[in-house]
Formats: sequence, C-alpha cells, structure tokens
Amino acid sequence: MSSDSKKVNMPRPELFDFHGVPMTHFFTDDWENVQNFKARPDDILIATYPKAGTTWVSYILDLLYFGQTSPERQTSIPIYERVPYLELNNPNVISGKDLADNLPTTPRLIKTHFPVQFVPKSFWEQNCRVIYVARNAKDNMVSYFHFNCMTRLLPEPGDWSSFYQKFLDGKVLYGSWYDHVSGWWKKKMTYPNLHYMCYEDLSEDTGREVDKLCSFLGLSPSAEFKEKVVNGVQFDNMKKNQMANYSTFPAMDFNICSFMRKGKVGDWKNHFTVAQNEGFDEDYKKKMKDPTLQFRNEI
Ligand code: A3P
Repeated sequence: MSSDSKKVNMPRPELFDFHGVPMTHFFTDDWENVQNFKARPDDILIATYPKAGTTWVSYILDLLYFGQTSPERQTSIPIYERVPYLELNNPNVISGKDLADNLPTTPRLIKTHFPVQFVPKSFWEQNCRVIYVARNAKDNMVSYFHFNCMTRLLPEPGDWSSFYQKFLDGKVLYGSWYDHVSGWWKKKMTYPNLHYMCYEDLSEDTGREVDKLCSFLGLSPSAEFKEKVVNGVQFDNMKKNQMANYSTFPAMDFNICSFMRKGKVGDWKNHFTVAQNEGFDEDYKKKMKDPTLQFRNEI
C-alpha cells in the first residue's frame, strides 16, 4: 500500500477560474480530449454537483443494467471503474476519459460533475439520456466539506466556517451549487431526455424513485429483481461493499472519514450554527428565485 499512501500525501491542487467556474487542473488538464468525447446514442450520463448522491445513483443504474447479466462485476470491478468520472484526469489516479472510451459494456454509464455548459456537445447531439441528481444545499455543503478534508484531489477546505463561506460564495471546485442546480434545471426545460431527481426523494422512498428511473430508461425489471436492487443500494449495504464504498480508490484518506460517511438527510443540523443557518436562508432567498425549483432544505 506504499504507492497509495504516496497518493494520499500528494500536494493539494489550487483552484483557478476556468471559463467562469473555479476548477483545478485535475479536471481541466484533458479539456480538449474530454470536450471531443464521442458519446454514443445509448450512453447514459449521470450528472451531479459533487456529493449529491452520484455513487448511489450510479450503483442503482449499474445493478439495473448489469446485475443479472454480469453478477461477477459486483465482486470484481469498483464502481468508479464501472461508471467512469469523465473529466478526472490524474496520471497517479485515473483517466476518466480513457476508462469511458474503453468501457466494454452497453450502455456505457458515465459520470460528470460539470456544470451544464461544460458537458461535451456529443451527449446533446446524440440525444443521450441524462440523469441529474440534486441534493439540498445544506447537506450537500456538509458532505462536500468532509470530502474536501479527506481527499487530496481537492483544494484545502480550511475549517468548517471558512468552508461554509466559500460554499456560499461559490469558491469551491465546480463553483456555485446554486448555479449548478439551476443551470441543469433550465436545461431540462429544453432537453426532454433529462431526468432530474433529488437525493431526499431517493432517501424517502428508494423503490418509488427506482420505478421513476426505470420508466425514464424504458426498463421493466421483475418485482423480485427490483427488490434486490433496492436492497443492494441501501446505505449500510453499499458501505460494507468494497466495490461500492471507494475503499480501493487512491488519494482518499479514510482515517479522516469514509466516502460513505453518514448517508443521512438533515446532517446539516449537526454542523450549522444558528447564525450560519439564518445567513444561509437569507442568501438562499436571494439566489434561488425560480419557484419551479424547490429543495427540501429544512428537512
Ligand atoms: P454524506 O457525506 O452525507 O454521508 P457522491 O456519490 O455524489 O460523492 O455523494 C456522496 C454522498 O452520498 C455521501 O453523503 C454518501 O454517504 C451518500 N451516499 C452514497 N450512497 C448512499 C446510499 N446508498 N444511501 C444514502 N446516502 C448515500
């Protein structure tokens, strides 16, 4: 494990402005190549702001498509290789674009955290199905803070209160949560092949949300298989599943926290002070003007 610990100790990258969005070089180094990605019509893109439930939905899709036909995947291929992270390009870790290009399965499941304007145009040209997962900003912020602490692929987060301020100011990797969720919401108005879903709904009733996903994807699993999928993707089951819990991924320090950290709605209450909560609510009202896009921040 010495090479892994070296990766855990690698220097943290700096944020810089990239076409108006704070990014780091791990996610822009391969820009031309990534922008020229050749999507196929049956590719499925899973898009999220970081820490909104990407892995959860990736695992659901992987099970729905391949759980019956390739059960060996479940014990041999980690989720981050089954569902490559398109723009991640770090020679010490992974090239998402290369993994995606070489995926042997159909459909290819591909993940991105890009704001909508950065998505390679071939996904739109090929009319690919796209699933966007959003999470309420308060829990998303908390989860992102812990993730920034545990992986050196991301910039130094500072303490909780400085991260809180950076998040509100959009000065974190991938920029403003507000712009991200709103940009993708607007895209849904003009691109019918986009399914916009929320972490809180998935947590409230996983079976119901899996039904919606199946109807969007044109899948009709048997009741028995659907139950197996819903059970397999419960937090505790994914947490102990080495192929789903990222424990084999380099560049993360699991002594700081696990990737599958808590998996709860409302954990923000354990982090926000009263003043931070009031400040957040004020700021939220100013930034989120579209009444058709509602999040359950108070849960
Ligand atoms: P927490 O840090 O709040 O625990 P992403 O996959 O986009 O990086 O998101 C990670 C977040 O989703 C983490 O949130 C993780 O615990 C949560 N998560 C992953 N799988 C989950 C599951 N099966 N049920 C509930 N939450 C899950």
